[in-house]
Amino acid sequence: MTAKVIDGKAFAANVRAQVAEHVARLKEENGLTPGLAVVLVGEDPASKVYVKNKHASTIEVGMASFEHRLEANTSEAELLALIDQLNADPAVHGILVQLPLPGHLNSELVINRIAPAKDVDGFHISNVGLLGTGQKSMVPCTPLGCLMMLRDHHGKLAGLNAVVVGRSNIVGKPMAQLLLGDSCTVTIAHSRTKDLAEVCKRADILVAAVGRPEMITGDMVKPGATVIDVGINRIERDGKARLVGDVHYDSAAAVAGAITPVPGGVGPMTIACLLANTLTACCRANG
Ligand code: GUN
Repeated sequence: MTAKVIDGKAFAANVRAQVAEHVARLKEENGLTPGLAVVLVGEDPASKVYVKNKHASTIEVGMASFEHRLEANTSEAELLALIDQLNADPAVHGILVQLPLPGHLNSELVINRIAPAKDVDGFHISNVGLLGTGQKSMVPCTPLGCLMMLRDHHGKLAGLNAVVVGRSNIVGKPMAQLLLGDSCTVTIAHSRTKDLAEVCKRADILVAAVGRPEMITGDMVKPGATVIDVGINRIERDGKARLVGDVHYDSAAAVAGAITPVPGGVGPMTIACLLANTLTACCRANG
């Protein structure tokens, strides 16, 4: 079998177009412009690229983008004061603090200072609890993007065996909650899981979010399964820099029914879902 390629880039373009259409209507009919504030502390090169892309995408869909770039030695008090100011600003509907933060800053404290209704990352402890109890919340962008692609491919997910490899707070755990919410039978596997290949092979839906290049190989995939690759790993091969996922693409694609590529799979969906979350936050804030 050769897997169907799930085109995250095209899917994300479609989501962004729908967001842009909704934003235009909000402006015309309600005089409202959704606003996203992104806070970057320090000079991490990868974070700078992510923040730049978020800014460009925000503007492109017609939203207001507020960028705050702070020095690497910014104090916790200064950062918390900025978050308080953004929490109180009616033009700001979504707030994202780019992670990782420099080591002297307490990420949990900082994230939990964001007003839950403006927490478009879905990382605030209130949103984590709401998601875990099946209540209306802000949902983390990467797992939300994965869920949208899975629903699009399968229609209903109820009763399917889903295995999420990776237990991070940002992807693995919320992904598992979302799949459970759609009535999948969910297993979370991780680095200490015994016989990982056997566990993965039971999956109708296999989500790889471990951060280890090409760790999931074709022999671990059930024939016909849907494979979602969240990994973005920069490696060097044959003297060239390459971007690969957590899934060994060629061997997995030979067995799977559908698979997301890297790049062009989950990655583009993350920013699209951030914009969708900002729009949701704006609509909820304005009734
Ligand atoms: N750094 C890497 N991914 C993310 C993300 O989804 N949100 C934030 N805030 N920082 C990140």
